[in-house]
Amino acid sequence: MKKAQIHIDKNFIIGEVDKRIYGSFIEHLGRAVYGGIYQPDSPLSDEQGFRKDVLELIRDIDVPVVRYPGGNFVSGYNWEDGIGPKSDRPSKLDLAWGVIESNQFGLNEFMDWVKKANTTAIMAVNLGTRGVEEAKNIIEYCNIEKGSFYSDLRRKHGYEDPHNIKLWCLGNEMDGPWQMGHKTADEYGRLAEETGRIMRMVDPSIELVACGSSNLDMPTFASWEATILDHCYDQVDYLSLHQYYGNHEDDSPNFLASSVAMDEFISSVISICDYVRAKKRSKKVINLSFDEWNVWYHSNNQDKKIERWSQAPHQLEDVYNLEDALLVGSMLITMLKHADRVKIACLAQLVNVIAPIMTSDTSVWKQTIYYPFMHASTLGRGTVLHTLVNSPVYDSKYGDAPFLDSVLIANEEEETLTLFAVNKDLKEGMEITCDLRQFAGYQIENHIVLTHENLKADNTEANPHNVTPKNSNLSRVENGVLVSMLEKQSWNVIRLKK
Ligand code: AHR
Repeated sequence: MKKAQIHIDKNFIIGEVDKRIYGSFIEHLGRAVYGGIYQPDSPLSDEQGFRKDVLELIRDIDVPVVRYPGGNFVSGYNWEDGIGPKSDRPSKLDLAWGVIESNQFGLNEFMDWVKKANTTAIMAVNLGTRGVEEAKNIIEYCNIEKGSFYSDLRRKHGYEDPHNIKLWCLGNEMDGPWQMGHKTADEYGRLAEETGRIMRMVDPSIELVACGSSNLDMPTFASWEATILDHCYDQVDYLSLHQYYGNHEDDSPNFLASSVAMDEFISSVISICDYVRAKKRSKKVINLSFDEWNVWYHSNNQDKKIERWSQAPHQLEDVYNLEDALLVGSMLITMLKHADRVKIACLAQLVNVIAPIMTSDTSVWKQTIYYPFMHASTLGRGTVLHTLVNSPVYDSKYGDAPFLDSVLIANEEEETLTLFAVNKDLKEGMEITCDLRQFAGYQIENHIVLTHENLKADNTEANPHNVTPKNSNLSRVENGVLVSMLEKQSWNVIRLKK
């Protein structure tokens, strides 16, 4: 059996977990909105047409922020099409996904839904086919109390109080040639700077996210970040990162090693932000918003068959298996290990579209990835400690990959320690030890495990509980040392309490 040691020191702190790291994403795409969170003709929905069963599962995972309305969709979107009486709203071509958008769900419905889901909004503005003027108008509509055209229009639509949306994305993936209105780094940098400046003139209290590269493989990666920040550094608070992984070659060890690449991606983006900071002799620190991350590949072939101009088709409906859940766990651990700089992250997406939650007309079920996300979001709050991990490694396409990914979070108020750990070994269990003598009196509260004999096991409507967490009795504290046995191919939550 392999062995690994985790070393911690209560004074070696990475940073506080910003709860917004457990955010998610709802795009007008596939059945995320229509048939996902909103289904007015369903007996499962409330008086506003919101699926109650879906709301319940979302509240259970405690998602502090949800990004909306896109994604690629936002780059061709007219937000005005989705406000006012539903009977007057136009159906439009959504060129991003080749479908028809009915606009029966829009900004105000989203803000009502946000309240019911116990969350808050990150709103994206269209900097693809539109620009400064529309961004100015939407923020006036959302955040100004009254007395101007757009604020009074909102009141006319039945919303007396402003929505007060504090977090805004300046476009989406503007470096991507697939994006409507995609731009060069200089064009986007200038536009982001000018849009941000004008949005802040309307509401100085907002925070802004600039678009970083669409993924690490973009040919313009790094120079894109440096160039756009040269233009808009003073206007923005966060730089975005997006990354999806897929096991295209059916090579699980390499797939599970993707967190090594993610870690390097985050470190590189931090370096670029700090390079621009140094160049500008600025005191301001730009933090990161990892506002799209997940596994995405299962549905690629199926999606090629979707008929053009259909409405809310089954699109990007990845069915996730155990190995996907393990990587999602490792990705969460990776972001937590950068808690000093990654302040926002959005699991893309939340319902039906590459999502932890799936619906049919009659039921809702949890995909495998729901569980690591739920555990991290509900239990992973507090202070992230530096974890020095001595783990055996294996050779991967990203270089040495540790068999063990882990992070430890201390919560002084609750007097808890939470260790998240993924054992990527597909053949055998692993014994881990961690000296806890600085945390006298802490005892095991529980050890939760997500695993399955079959790495490809998944949850479906017919078999929704195939991969579910169980309690393990394989952890103990002995003479101040935590000793745990991690089953092969497993996600683990080891919770200690004083
Ligand atoms: O989340 C699906 C898509 O992935 C988003 O619309 C886009 O931003 C990204 O390429």
